Amino acid sequence: MTRYVVANWKSHKTRDEAATWLEIFARRYRGDAEVEVIVAPSFVFLDQLHQALRDLDLRGVSLAVQDLSPFPPGSYTGAVAAEMVRDVAGYAILGHPERRRYFHETHQEVANKVSEAAAVGIKPILFVDRSYARSRINALREEDMRELIIGYGPVEAIGIHVPQSPELVGQAIREIREMAPGRPVLYGGSVDAANAATYVKLPGVSGVMVGTASLDPEEFARICEIVGRN
Ligand code: PGA
Repeated sequence: MTRYVVANWKSHKTRDEAATWLEIFARRYRGDAEVEVIVAPSFVFLDQLHQALRDLDLRGVSLAVQDLSPFPPGSYTGAVAAEMVRDVAGYAILGHPERRRYFHETHQEVANKVSEAAAVGIKPILFVDRSYARSRINALREEDMRELIIGYGPVEAIGIHVPQSPELVGQAIREIREMAPGRPVLYGGSVDAANAATYVKLPGVSGVMVGTASLDPEEFARICEIVGRN
C-alpha cells in the first residue's frame, strides 16, 4: 500500500528558501518505493521546484498546488486554472480548512475544484473535518471520486502544535472511510517527527499531511523515513 507524506508550505518561503529546502531535503532523504512524498509550495515556485527535482533526480517526490480555480481557463481574474499547472503538479490540496476560514470557500466550490483537477489528471487531496465530511463528500461528482485522496484535518489541531488524540483520529478515519470506501485517508494537524509514527500506525491511515514541521527539510525528511518504516 502506498503511503503519502505531504509538505504543505502554505504562504511560507521565498524563492531562495524554497531552493535551499530542496537541496537539504535531497541530501537527507533516501527515498522509499512505498512512500509518495508530495511538496506543496506557492504557485509561483512550482516551475523552479519542478526543474530542481529533475536536476537532483529526486524520485518519488511530486509537487502539489495548495488551491485551484473552480473554473476552467477564462475571464476569472487572479485564478489559476488546473490546466495551467498540470505539467508540474501531480496533486492538488483542495478545501484546506484555512481556505474555508479565511477565504470562505463553500462545499460546492470545493467540489468544482476537485472536478477541475480530476479533469486534467491532477489527483485531488480533499480536506474534510469530522463535522462536515459527509456534506463535503456528498457534494462531489461520482466520477471525481476515482483518484480522490481524503485528508482528515481537524480544525482544532491545525497549526497550533497540539495534535488530536490518536483515539479521536482513529474514530474519525473509520467514519470517513465508510463515506468514501477504498479511498486513501491521511491525517493532518500538528504532525511532527515525534508523533508521526503514532498516526501512521493507526488502522486505515494512509499517510500524514505536515504543515509547520515541513518547513524544516531535516525534520520533514525524518518524518518521511518514519512513515516508510511504519
Ligand atoms: P500543521 O498544519 O502541521 O501546521 O498543523 C497541518 C496542515 O495544514 O495540514
